[in-house]
Amino acid sequence: MNLEHTDKELFEVIQEELNRQQSHIELIASENFVSEAILEADGSVLTNKYAEGYPGKRYYGGCEFVDKAENLAIERVKKLFNVEYANVQAHSGSTANMAAYRAVLKPGDKVLGMALDQGGHLTHGHPLSFSGIDYDFYPYYVDKKTETIDYEKLEKKALEIKPKLIVAGASAYPRKIDFKRFKEICDKVDALLMVDMAHIAGLVATNLHPNPCEYADIVTSTTHKTLRGPRGGIVLTNDKEIAKNVNRVVFPGIQGGPLMHIISAKAVAFKEALSDDFIDYQKQVVKNAKVFADKFIDLGYHVVSNGTDNHLLLLDVLSKAKMSGKKAEKLLDKANITCNKNTIPYDTKKPFVTSGIRLGTPAMTTRGFKAEDFVEVAILIDMILSNPEDESIFKQVKQRVKKLTDKYPLDYYKPY
Ligand SMILES: Cc1ncc(COP(=O)(O)O)c(C=O)c1O
Repeated sequence: MNLEHTDKELFEVIQEELNRQQSHIELIASENFVSEAILEADGSVLTNKYAEGYPGKRYYGGCEFVDKAENLAIERVKKLFNVEYANVQAHSGSTANMAAYRAVLKPGDKVLGMALDQGGHLTHGHPLSFSGIDYDFYPYYVDKKTETIDYEKLEKKALEIKPKLIVAGASAYPRKIDFKRFKEICDKVDALLMVDMAHIAGLVATNLHPNPCEYADIVTSTTHKTLRGPRGGIVLTNDKEIAKNVNRVVFPGIQGGPLMHIISAKAVAFKEALSDDFIDYQKQVVKNAKVFADKFIDLGYHVVSNGTDNHLLLLDVLSKAKMSGKKAEKLLDKANITCNKNTIPYDTKKPFVTSGIRLGTPAMTTRGFKAEDFVEVAILIDMILSNPEDESIFKQVKQRVKKLTDKYPLDYYKPY
């Protein structure tokens, strides 16, 4: 029996989503397409197993094989990021961040994190997130002119606030992050350094971005963005005591049974990330983003920080198209181009409206897009944003989107 016969409704939902993924240009910077090998591990019988605890120290019998899977994931991720200790059980990036904070902070401790409307993540101190509720977060900002992190002001603020922890890392920051500089600031004020590398983990794994494990006391990541693995989180450190705390905090502190199917899929993803093909892929991701950003600049848009060093760019749509990010997202969706509205630094519009959209290259690069394809996508986006009322333009753009998505098919076998 398979899903098609046992649950037609859900089967159809999955088919519809597969068709959507195949027929749209996916530019959400935090998304990617995993390999069939990862899907296979993700959908495997390992989902049946309870394995509270850690390899060799479980609260359940029958863990000899899932122990092997978790050990493979741990050893591979340690090699990938050149780090001594790894916890691969965090269910998500948010849980990984919760574990990292709890491993080194007490409730009420002061933390310095990137301003959320300038690129920081919700778990870096949003008042409705556990992070903003449990800890006393203060924001640091980008420079108004360069739109890059203002390290001097960050240092000044650190000296003034005297935080216990400084968090580096972002959800929407297009430039390299100077972890060495962060560490120097931390040392000056006796703070710990945490790096949330969720967005750039794939670039770090392939030496296209400095490795935070060299400088930070604790590093967290998701496994599903540029790293191109299953949905999940990891926590890394070179400090034995912090590593012990992390393990205790993840289980039994925050979570119960680990998701062994996901952990096995993480192991597959880390193996893929250690391959030469993955290096070529990440190089193409970065090249594509650069060409994409340059084309928008040619077309007359303001691109935040005037370009990108990584896998994403922030397009100030208000600067040329005189519309909000919210409207741009909606219009592009209508033409089968998927992205998300995003605030730009010092945005004059509210977070649900915004002046910008965030555009990433990881997903379509996985499908095979090269630089010239991203030039075409920039042209298509500009056609839509410059002619929001013109139905014939929408029709034309949709046809050109189809040509691209047909040229680079998402070659999954039918899921069931
Ligand atoms: C920098 C950063 N950290 C953490 C997260 C949270 O990850 P998750 O959605 O898996 O909880 C995200 C997700 O977008 C992120 O961008």
